[in-house]
Amino acid sequence: MERLDHIRDEIQRLVKQAASLEALEQARVALLGRKGRITELMKGLGALAPEARRELGAALNRLKGEAEEAIAHAARRLEDEALRARLREERVDVTLPVRAESEGRVHPLSQTIDEIVAIFGEMGFSVAEGPDIEDDFHNFTALNIPPEHPARQEQDTFYLPEHRDGRKVLRTHTSPVQIRTMQKVKPPIRIIVPGRTFRSDHDATHSPMFHQVEGLVIDKTTHMGHLKGCLVEFCRAFFDIDDLPVRFRPSYFPFTEPSAEVDIGCSREGGGLRIGAGGSWLEILGSGMVHPKVLANCGIDPSEYQGFAFGMGIERVAMLKYGIPDLRAIYDNDLRWLRHYGFLPLDLPSMVGGLAR
Ligand code: DAH
Repeated sequence: MERLDHIRDEIQRLVKQAASLEALEQARVALLGRKGRITELMKGLGALAPEARRELGAALNRLKGEAEEAIAHAARRLEDEALRARLREERVDVTLPVRAESEGRVHPLSQTIDEIVAIFGEMGFSVAEGPDIEDDFHNFTALNIPPEHPARQEQDTFYLPEHRDGRKVLRTHTSPVQIRTMQKVKPPIRIIVPGRTFRSDHDATHSPMFHQVEGLVIDKTTHMGHLKGCLVEFCRAFFDIDDLPVRFRPSYFPFTEPSAEVDIGCSREGGGLRIGAGGSWLEILGSGMVHPKVLANCGIDPSEYQGFAFGMGIERVAMLKYGIPDLRAIYDNDLRWLRHYGFLPLDLPSMVGGLAR
């Protein structure tokens, strides 16, 4: 019993003195390990008379419990101290400037999509999405594209193998999301749809996978004047030119009536191309008033509702805005190209910030 008191004092001392978790572990092994002092005493119990064994056994068990608790307590203290020391040392100064040499870049296509979304977002549009794999109804039929239309032919459309609910296609434009939205949402509708599109075309200005952004506005009073105002505003904000000439040229799309192609002003002096006033024109998007048949195909009453739609190739406007000469480089993942044309991740696009570069 005397030895136990002795050991009890020793436990307190060892545990208090332990300056690290390793030292504490050594103390634990010395007391409770296979050859530890308490363990050894417990082994010796068998040699005692039953009376003494019971008494000493109970005392040893208590001592063992005390030792375990003291060690656990000390471990918590040491862990707390270590954490506090780390918090002191590893403090982050959030006011430091961003590391300019950071390797990561935002791809110019992502940047362009973010800018387009920011501009239309300011005008009250929200972003909608649809599947890359479409059915014939959403990609063609509901958009009033007749069966004999050339867009349906094999050379333009990627068809998937026959499926039990008909042949699926890789969507050839983002327009099917107009249909999906009108089937789901009651007007008023005001959406843009950035996304991937696919056509079997491949040369310096065409890629089999490319991107479009679709726009759709449906309510009771929206007319062609709104279409023009909205798209002129967009073109000027996107190219950051307040007096950019914008021209609406009569055209044809099966899903709009009337339809118009939108051109922006440019100059082609000395072989170069500059966006802005200059006597030449560049086509950048298609648009029109949504065809009454398209509304009816989606269960919307064309005598009550009307509106406009537009579709634009994202690569094309990105190349024009950022002076990218070859479409194919956009998908090559060449780091030198990405470093040159990419954007710093913290250059957040906004109506002002991201656009004025
Ligand atoms: N879907 C057309 C295309 O891929 C682009 C387009 C033109 C979309 C006119 C529209 C629109 O919504 O009104 O060529």
